[in-house]
Amino acid sequence: MLRPLLLLPTCAIPVLSFAQVMNPMAVPPALELDTFDLDVDEHVVSFYPGVSTNTYGASAPYLGPTLVMHQGDTVRVRVHNHLNQVTSMHWHGMRVPGWADGGPPREVMPGETWFVEFPVNNPAATFWYHPHPDGLTAEQANQGVAGAIVVRDTVEAALDLPRTYGVDDLPVVIQDRRFAPNGNFVFAAYGDSVLVNGTPHPYVDCPAQVIRLRLLNGSNARVYQLGFEDGRTFHVIGGDGGLLAAPVPADRLPLSNGERVEVLVDLTGMEGDSLLLMSYGSELPLTVPGSDHPLWESSALNGVDFAVLRIRVTAPTADPVTVIPASLVTVTPPNDADAVRTRTKILAGTGMVGMGMFTINGLMFDPAVVNDTMLLGTTEIWEIENISNMAHPMHLHGGSFHLLDRDGAPPHPWESGPKDVVLVDAGASARIIMRFDDLSDGWPFMYHCHNLMHEDNMMMLQYIVVDPNTNVSEGSATSGLRIFPSPTQGTLVYQAPFAVEEIILADALGRFVRREHGSRQASGTFDMSALPSGAYLLFLRSEDDQVHQLVVRE
Ligand code: C2O
Ligand code: CU
Ligand code: CU
Repeated sequence: MLRPLLLLPTCAIPVLSFAQVMNPMAVPPALELDTFDLDVDEHVVSFYPGVSTNTYGASAPYLGPTLVMHQGDTVRVRVHNHLNQVTSMHWHGMRVPGWADGGPPREVMPGETWFVEFPVNNPAATFWYHPHPDGLTAEQANQGVAGAIVVRDTVEAALDLPRTYGVDDLPVVIQDRRFAPNGNFVFAAYGDSVLVNGTPHPYVDCPAQVIRLRLLNGSNARVYQLGFEDGRTFHVIGGDGGLLAAPVPADRLPLSNGERVEVLVDLTGMEGDSLLLMSYGSELPLTVPGSDHPLWESSALNGVDFAVLRIRVTAPTADPVTVIPASLVTVTPPNDADAVRTRTKILAGTGMVGMGMFTINGLMFDPAVVNDTMLLGTTEIWEIENISNMAHPMHLHGGSFHLLDRDGAPPHPWESGPKDVVLVDAGASARIIMRFDDLSDGWPFMYHCHNLMHEDNMMMLQYIVVDPNTNVSEGSATSGLRIFPSPTQGTLVYQAPFAVEEIILADALGRFVRREHGSRQASGTFDMSALPSGAYLLFLRSEDDQVHQLVVRE
């Protein structure tokens, strides 16, 4: 069923509805800089004529610039927090060390600037950035803080793919938003209007040749079932964290929260014509947010087919891509046989899309508890099993994983590349394999449901990555840290090349067991006498740095 975009809201809260005027899709500027500045601030935007909406943005009134990065480079970002509440900035999907990941522990306080520098390890793909403060992620993302990251590499550069940003290579950030009568966003699981790159009722002019869309679901909770109105076949060339081995033809593509896909659409010979990218919400299983599940929150977009973006085809460019390549890159998932461990993660609970209580292995987020400890450089298989009443898009920080199977069967062919979000439906399971190549260094990595409402409602846990080769009794030359004696019968002495602000002790399972203020000097003592014997990790934190050391209580 195809419904027009002008819909009378069916929900209980009064919301604004608007006349259907097509607007040119905003294309955020692509920045290619050594140092990026992201000013997170409050703004007012007129999404609809005569209507003012309070927003947040990152160096823009709504959303933020596209950050172009090159594999192998070092990226520097200054995140300035002009809000009157804490924020943070996370590089979703990028393989960075814990201290650079920008998760909930890495708070950027109001008025503060976070300067971060990290190596670009990922291959060419589309990533994104968004705030990640504990309990405020959904609200700040809902207000508009998010943006795309385009990573380029030499392998991708050698392929004959569209890559002229804003011409034949376009970011398409899809969000649904609900507008209150005063014009402001309602903070809710669902919206009734679709925004693409912040534009309602968008159209975009594209040349009559092969174009590339970088689709990103930036919605709080809605899953999209994408396809074209004429039923045409398009080609998926990449997923969350990299290109596929070869383009995969498709005519439908589910896109869950936080997920990205890159698709090629062949517009050859279509000059003057137009094309409608749709979401076929009527095809979503009832258990997937975006369906018209009778017991869940309502929205004018639920369970119906609606337009996402109109593509108007213009004259081809001087040097068009006209062929879908036969093959792309070599995809090398970690080897099953290398997995040192399998962990089972059970998603449980019941509720509505924007509320309810969902758990992972019966647990909810506790910033003071580390739930899993990985050994640096090892590979693990995680089996994610969903026994709750709805689908959850599960996301891991710390890099990309590969999907081994869904319910024991091979994953969809377009899911065969590196990924960092996997939608696991109610009653279903998925197995992923991942190698942990970056130390958390005292800044745990999160794993969570990327339904932002669930995430903020604590459907999130954290893991650390430790180096099993850490010297037991003496600090490494590089850290300049000494902790002795180890083993100890109680009192430890520490010497660090910085003023120690905070001391955190974790047990061998990575769970925080104690956290206290440091001496604020380069040396001090720490009392372990009340603790049971065993191996512990001791973290010493300076203003902006952190080192850790394995210590043993005798
Ligand atoms: Cu999109 Cu925890 O992240
Ligand atoms: Cu992430
Ligand atoms: Cu969820």
